[in-house]
Amino acid sequence: MLTVSSIAELRPLVKKWRREGDRIAFVPTMGNLHAGHLKLVDEASKAAERVIVSIFVNPSQFGPGEDFASYPRTEADDAKALASCSVDVLFLPRPEAMYAKDHATSIAIDKLSTLHCGVSRPGHFSGVATVVAKLFNIVQPDIAFFGEKDFQQLTIIRRMVRDLNFDVEIRSVATVREPDGLAMSSRNNYLSAEQRTCAPELYRLLCSARDKAQQPDSQLGEIQREAMATLKSFGFEPDYVSFCRTYDLEPASEQDVELVLLAAAKLDKTRLIDNLRFSRYARH
Ligand code: PAF
Repeated sequence: MLTVSSIAELRPLVKKWRREGDRIAFVPTMGNLHAGHLKLVDEASKAAERVIVSIFVNPSQFGPGEDFASYPRTEADDAKALASCSVDVLFLPRPEAMYAKDHATSIAIDKLSTLHCGVSRPGHFSGVATVVAKLFNIVQPDIAFFGEKDFQQLTIIRRMVRDLNFDVEIRSVATVREPDGLAMSSRNNYLSAEQRTCAPELYRLLCSARDKAQQPDSQLGEIQREAMATLKSFGFEPDYVSFCRTYDLEPASEQDVELVLLAAAKLDKTRLIDNLRFSRYARH
């Protein structure tokens, strides 16, 4: 595995592989790698001859007062973990190479980026879309891999790729969970022992809300309200619990069949997100 931090060094490598007919799979990350990231890397290595993983803690997706400064940076351990996977290049761009001092261009995804997490994190998804677009332009991948845990992010990236005609196939990979159901996330490291015991309640609650939604006379609005109250009773500060249509993340109606249940809640300062996709029986 080669570690490359300069864009100018990466480009000729990618060009050479393309000339040789190799396909390139790309896994963008912010590091502090866990089993969820390694699953993305594993899928990437099955999908293409060449695999590039990037680690870049992207400042433009953190709002004021968020955890940019304290976000765990564990590059040496990450590099070690990736060295035992089938990775050709670990790309570690320097912030000054990614954002010129007078960087002035960004991508806005109307509507989708203002829903759900976009309400409490204004600007976050524009920061994500912009850095992913930049990374796609640098890495020129054939296929890129994203985790389903960040379902809104995944939906936004798919929309950006469609709307701006990026020649990249987006593949998603199922959320990897701890044995007690907690979705793996770098931010789980912030949890105290007591909070860590409580954290899996978020996933349990999603499972229970999904089961209720599948009952014949259930009402989605009522289940959402109950779920918010249950989260509070466990000590969470819930941001939202929302049954949505899978394709545009707008609130689901009682008639929608393919749903995603999205949730975000804080345990003290740690913001956790999770989701569940499911089908509901058609109602008339
Ligand atoms: O999901 C993440 O780790 C980040 O949002 C991403 C896609 C690498 C962009 O910085």
